[in-house]
Amino acid sequence: MNRLDFDFYESEDPVWNPALLTIPVPGIRKMVNLAATMDDVIHLSIGQPDAPTPPHVIQATIDALQAGQTGYTMDAGLPELLEALAEYNTERYGRPVSPENILVTTGATEAIYLALTAVSAPGREFIVPDPSFMLYAPLIRMNGGEVKYIPTRAENNHQLDPQEVIDAIDSNTHAIILNSPSNPTGTVYPRETVEAIVQEAAYRGIYVLSDEVYDHLIYDNLDYASVLSCCSDLDHVMIMSSFSKTFSMAGMRIGWLIASQGAIRKLRRYHMFTTTVANTPCQWAGVAALRGDRSYVANTVETYRKRRDRLVELVNRTPYLEGYVPEGAFYLFPALPEGVNGNNVALRMLRETGVCTIAGDTFGESCRNALRISYATSIENIEEAFERIIPWMEKQDFG
Ligand SMILES: Cc1ncc(COP(=O)(O)O)c(C=O)c1O
Repeated sequence: MNRLDFDFYESEDPVWNPALLTIPVPGIRKMVNLAATMDDVIHLSIGQPDAPTPPHVIQATIDALQAGQTGYTMDAGLPELLEALAEYNTERYGRPVSPENILVTTGATEAIYLALTAVSAPGREFIVPDPSFMLYAPLIRMNGGEVKYIPTRAENNHQLDPQEVIDAIDSNTHAIILNSPSNPTGTVYPRETVEAIVQEAAYRGIYVLSDEVYDHLIYDNLDYASVLSCCSDLDHVMIMSSFSKTFSMAGMRIGWLIASQGAIRKLRRYHMFTTTVANTPCQWAGVAALRGDRSYVANTVETYRKRRDRLVELVNRTPYLEGYVPEGAFYLFPALPEGVNGNNVALRMLRETGVCTIAGDTFGESCRNALRISYATSIENIEEAFERIIPWMEKQDFG
């Protein structure tokens, strides 16, 4: 833990809301900070696309700025973007979505923040896959809710067993969090899994909150089961997504939330009290991304697929790493042998080989023996990283 983390977590200063203690020491920052002090580091730690943003999207932002689009938009979002998102989601998932079902947010992060903090409260339980993206559990706990983890494992491609989720529902269960494709595992849930969970949740009056930021990064022409295409109405679902990963627009911070009109009306008010509105010129960039040439997406998906294939081969040749074939996003989450501390391994590997990965415990409780490897980097970098990792692993003795 560096000095900054220490101050944040150990300070006795009563000014701070004790709820802040639910925010864990950020494992990613710890690794990236250490890497920043070293030379010749290869990053397999990156959580954002390395491809440039499509030129027509950049041009739309510049045009918007030059046209004086620098004021606030309507609170739910730029009407042109709401319209484009409604058409796009209706067409892609075969479910009628109207602009009144959508709220434009500052990245998917704000959508997740609004959704979780608007429904979490003391006594309410949330079912969350373990490992999962590190925002969910702290946001639930910060507002008094409790997390019930459902562990997934590398040997099962980190698939979620829908029956296990259904069996975990009890009278305190308030919502189920899904994230397919998943960060950190790259796992895509099959339609049967999503349908079974969504249907059971609707029957029991429980919400499904679905983070779908990687919805386009799907390989091998696999069917993608968005919650939008698996629910009979929007009464018990919220879908959060963004332009960040699909169009390499992470820094432009435009996301959205789709839900029933009643839920959107409530969340609109909450949104006004958090960020007011999303960035105006970048909302125009979003319109250009949806209305313009989308061949960019197919090309980047093909690039990631080639990298995924190469990474899977290299992981399979690495001693002690148990891999699998992830079907989406740009992550693989291989397991080290049971009981090995992934945190120590990631730190030693960074110090001794200069390859930066992220330790599994950043993403939950049941995966301390795992590493998250990102392939949002070139095949050359991936190959060079494994030229260092494989001989290093050969020298380890993990029993
Ligand atoms: C699963 C998941 N959800 C949400 C986000 C945040 O997305 P955004 O940049 O749109 O806020 C990320 C970013 O890494 C992510 O991996």
